Amino acid sequence: MKILVTGGIGYIGSHTVCELLDNDYEVVIVDNLCNSKKDVVNKIEEITKKQVKFYEGDVCDKKILEKIFKENKIEAVIHFASLKAVGESVEKPLLYYRNNLDATMSLLEVMNKYNCKKIVFSSSATVYGKPKTLPIKEDFVLMTTNPYGTTKLVIENILKDLYISDNEWSIAVLRYFNPIGAHKSGLIGENPNGIPNNLMPYIIKVATKELPYLNIFGDDYDTKDGTGVRDYIHVVDLAKGHLCAIKKILEEKGIDYYNLGTGHGYSVLELVKTFEKVNNVKINYKIVNRRPGDIDACYADCTYAFLKLGFKASKGIEDMCIDSYNFIKKQNNLK
Ligand code: NAD
Ligand code: WQD
Repeated sequence: MKILVTGGIGYIGSHTVCELLDNDYEVVIVDNLCNSKKDVVNKIEEITKKQVKFYEGDVCDKKILEKIFKENKIEAVIHFASLKAVGESVEKPLLYYRNNLDATMSLLEVMNKYNCKKIVFSSSATVYGKPKTLPIKEDFVLMTTNPYGTTKLVIENILKDLYISDNEWSIAVLRYFNPIGAHKSGLIGENPNGIPNNLMPYIIKVATKELPYLNIFGDDYDTKDGTGVRDYIHVVDLAKGHLCAIKKILEEKGIDYYNLGTGHGYSVLELVKTFEKVNNVKINYKIVNRRPGDIDACYADCTYAFLKLGFKASKGIEDMCIDSYNFIKKQNNLK
């Protein structure tokens, strides 16, 4: 069974490819390296002791997609390829709309042409905007607050319209909450260049002393300790969720939507304190103003993914903190 994984050497993609290979799927990856390094292909092969076929190319480019579909019998696609930085999307909306929408349109058109009608799409909890109640269920009202989020919502609508027009499609839309952590080997993980936008990559740079302290964006939210609350999910659990989704779309036609989180909300301070404790390292921080656009709390109701996909996250925030730090220590040759 051959699966095409777009954006397959990125953070979530690389972990998912490892899970696919460990479960005897054959994997073809296409990635243009705009936010990843080619060396990840070798790391994936080192971890899994299996081969993966890699095409360097842009998913917006139908020629490369045609080549892939001609050269491989692709049964299903997992579509990760996307730009994902919320702040950058506000500054460069055209870049985000062009890349994220064009890539998806080219992919869907080529899939249609080659009669491959099974897709798992990476959406995001960002499509829930500022939820009125918690935990968040899949049938909540959808609204977005930034161009990145809007690309996800537009793609969800495109997929819905596609299914309405042709019931042969099988589509799983996965709405991820906050993935952190890394593979236990320490060979793959997340290490963005420059100043990170997201919390865990920032904590890590403070732990390795690349940055002097963490800015905590607000301690006056209506939460347990005033700092923002999120549903952090270990990236390996998230990757396993994709296997559940692949099994589902291979079995059944239709379109469906699933929250992938743990169902537990942790505050920024809880994450920082846990990171300090399990890794025996000090994380200096300052409380600063709220970050524009942030919400106070966000966590998933995971019942539907459990009932329909049999998916349940198993790793806690201790594991997430240990594995995130382990990856970076290995990257930086630290003890
Ligand atoms: P990532 O940036 O690490 O991985 C995305 C990969 O896609 C990168 O390797 C990049 O080079 C590639 N890519 C981007 N545009 C491309 C294009 N046009 N053609 C070919 N390759 C392209 O991001 P990630 O964290 O692994 O996220 C994967 C998916 O999950 C994305 O769709 C993202 O929007 C979504 N998502 C991520 C998070 C998160 O917090 N990481 C949360 C919710 C949803
Ligand atoms: C988590 C918490 C911050 C950084 C974003 C996207 C979302 C999804 C996941 C792709 C919040 C606080 C953060 C820092 C801090 N991505 N924080 N200091 O904002 O929940 O979600 O990534 O789909 O769409 O919006 O994640 O990691 O940025 O923030 O205090 O330096 O940490 O205020 O409470 P967020 P995050």
